[in-house]
Amino acid sequence: MNLKIGVIKGDGIGPEIVTEAMKVIDKAAQIYGHTCEYMQLLMGGASIDVHGVPLTDETVAAAKSCDAVLMGSIGGDAKTSPWYRLEPSKRPEAGLLRIRKELNLFANLRPAVLYDELKGACPLKEEITEGGFDMMIMRELTGGLYFGERKTVEENGVMTAYDSLTYNENEIRRIAKRGFDIAMKRRKKVTSVDKANVLDSSRLWRKVVEEVAADYPAVALEHMLVDNCAMQLVKDPKQFDVILTENMFGDILSDEASMVTGSIGMLASASLNETKFGLYEPSGGSAPDIAGKGIANPIATILSAAMMLRFSFDLDREAEAIESAVAKVLEEGYRTIDIMSEGKTQVGTEKMGDLIAGYLK
Ligand code: IPM
Ligand code: MG
Repeated sequence: MNLKIGVIKGDGIGPEIVTEAMKVIDKAAQIYGHTCEYMQLLMGGASIDVHGVPLTDETVAAAKSCDAVLMGSIGGDAKTSPWYRLEPSKRPEAGLLRIRKELNLFANLRPAVLYDELKGACPLKEEITEGGFDMMIMRELTGGLYFGERKTVEENGVMTAYDSLTYNENEIRRIAKRGFDIAMKRRKKVTSVDKANVLDSSRLWRKVVEEVAADYPAVALEHMLVDNCAMQLVKDPKQFDVILTENMFGDILSDEASMVTGSIGMLASASLNETKFGLYEPSGGSAPDIAGKGIANPIATILSAAMMLRFSFDLDREAEAIESAVAKVLEEGYRTIDIMSEGKTQVGTEKMGDLIAGYLK
């Protein structure tokens, strides 16, 4: 099979971690008889430096011509980077929001798994994490507060800012269906998270999710208010299978969920539309403070590449091979600095990529 992959290396640690993921994809392709065709795409600060904007129309078109896009991370240090002296719509993050919208990537899957070997890095008490946890955050990605109308105006001499939060039933229905489909392949439980005690958009969310649930009698549905969910994630993370939620709640809860696994450097993500196309990126950011030092953890990006093989190319065997190689490297005691603990072997970004590629079979 020929894999046509768009590559957005991006900013900060992005180029380093994507290089390792490409190494692993290439090795898997070689073993399983595929060819890879990469198309380098500029987004975020890297695009601002060349084109003056974080995403060009040409890049959007080029991304659309690929089967999938693998991304590192975008953005820099907001205090020191000149990118943040531009108006908000021209900053790196605007490129990411726009590509999600342009490619209609409404379903964001963020798995949060506690690896047995990394239990030591988990900040929660052992009695809470005993037996591990494995949840999938399904975040709606192209609606809600991040895409509503916004403005800042002066009203009667007082500066006033508006951000509007809108969801229509179709936007809710399509993400809910995805959530239930995924739950069917997992432990068959959906926790739909909202703020229905206050927000109209949440009350509609709840109603539509219940309608969708009727088509999935095998899946247990529960509703949870977002503030309670934030608490439950640290109190009893084992209770969750699929967390289904809107854009902003998912943004916040997925960072929290990643933290309780011990390292954000381990967490992959996939952003999907109605087709097989997807954008795959680590859940973590561009970490400008450690960029270029060769110490960033490439595992989240490598696991995102595995998700890409599974969801966009239906190459389950290849995806599993990569996931097993990652597990093997951890078992053998290799660690990047973010997940390092006593008695283990510390390695850098490139060595970690070499090891995972080396364990592939
Ligand atoms: C994420 C990030 C983005 C988001 C930012 C960079 C716009 O935090 O992917 O979670 O909020 O969606
Ligand atoms: Mg975020």
